[in-house]
Amino acid sequence: MRRPFLLHLLAAAILLSTTSAFNITILLGRFPGFEQFNQLLSHTQLAEQVNSRRTITVLGLPNDRIGTLMQLREDAQKSILSLHIILDYFDMAKLAKLTPANKTTLTTLYQSSGLANGRQGFIDVVRRTDGTIVFGSSVPGSPLVCNFVNPVAAQPFNISVLSVSQPIIAPGMDGTYFDTPATPPPPPPAAAAPAPAARKKAPPPVEEEPVEVTEAPAPAAAPAPTKSPAPSPDADADAAADEGEDVNAAEDLTSEKETSGGVDLGVKLGLVIGLAALVAVAGQ
Ligand SMILES: *[C@@H]1O[C@H](CO)[C@@H](O)[C@H](O)[C@H]1NC(C)=O
Ligand SMILES: *[C@@H]1O[C@H](CO)[C@@H](O)[C@H](O)[C@H]1NC(C)=O
Ligand SMILES: *[C@@H]1O[C@H](CO)[C@@H](O)[C@H](O)[C@H]1NC(C)=O
Repeated sequence: MRRPFLLHLLAAAILLSTTSAFNITILLGRFPGFEQFNQLLSHTQLAEQVNSRRTITVLGLPNDRIGTLMQLREDAQKSILSLHIILDYFDMAKLAKLTPANKTTLTTLYQSSGLANGRQGFIDVVRRTDGTIVFGSSVPGSPLVCNFVNPVAAQPFNISVLSVSQPIIAPGMDGTYFDTPATPPPPPPAAAAPAPAARKKAPPPVEEEPVEVTEAPAPAAAPAPTKSPAPSPDADADAAADEGEDVNAAEDLTSEKETSGGVDLGVKLGLVIGLAALVAVAGQ
């Protein structure tokens, strides 16, 4: 029981460490001012989708630029946020190579969600002749409202995070989502009152060193709960028993054998004594 369980853990740890090239939650956590955006990425599960990609650019919204996004329904938040995740790598060098005043169309994660209508899943980027770089929805007639502010982080050529000035919302997204008057408690625009559940996740990523190394311990612990509920009730007890004794597991196994051997011996001895007693009785 113990041995397969530990092997599962090990396999899961190896799998996770080889498939994730980076962790957007940890990456963004190193930059003060993106706490709410980071929290939204995790809350909408978009962080996992970002981490599963090899080549990606995230248009990050600082806390003071996130606007009303924090107050929207979760599906709207997810749609809008996924429009800020570009399925290509764009860092400063690549942005500088854009032909001035020429529109380049970029595919976003929203396009791959299957929810996009028409051009909703695409955004345009333009490097103006004055050097400023602007983004906007590719839906015809949409304004280029979102300004590039500065590069935040880059891990060439896999992930780049750029800071931008305001959310990009494709026309029709609001029609689809915000029409619903069921946006009941629009709390005060106190942007500093996020969901308490997600907030707790922000502090931990204080890990500063190489992302790959710091990632390893967290995922190793995560798969445990998914393993235990599924199999027999024994597995739960096993999992609980395994807590904190991983190092001693080998010792445990041998001592278990000894005790079970002892039990065996005891039973046999009992039988022999019982037989001897019977023989003695019969003999009399
Ligand atoms: C980085 O991206 C390249 C392709 O752009 C890919 O071949 C490589 O595997 C990626 N690196 C990691 C660690 O995922
Ligand atoms: C990324 O880091 C967060 C916070 O440390 C963690 O909860 C999450 O499991 C990590 N994701 C991956 C894919 O390693
Ligand atoms: C503008 O970009 C398009 C492709 O995005 C390209 O075909 C065209 O030649 C470019 N125009 C200029 C003036 O660079």
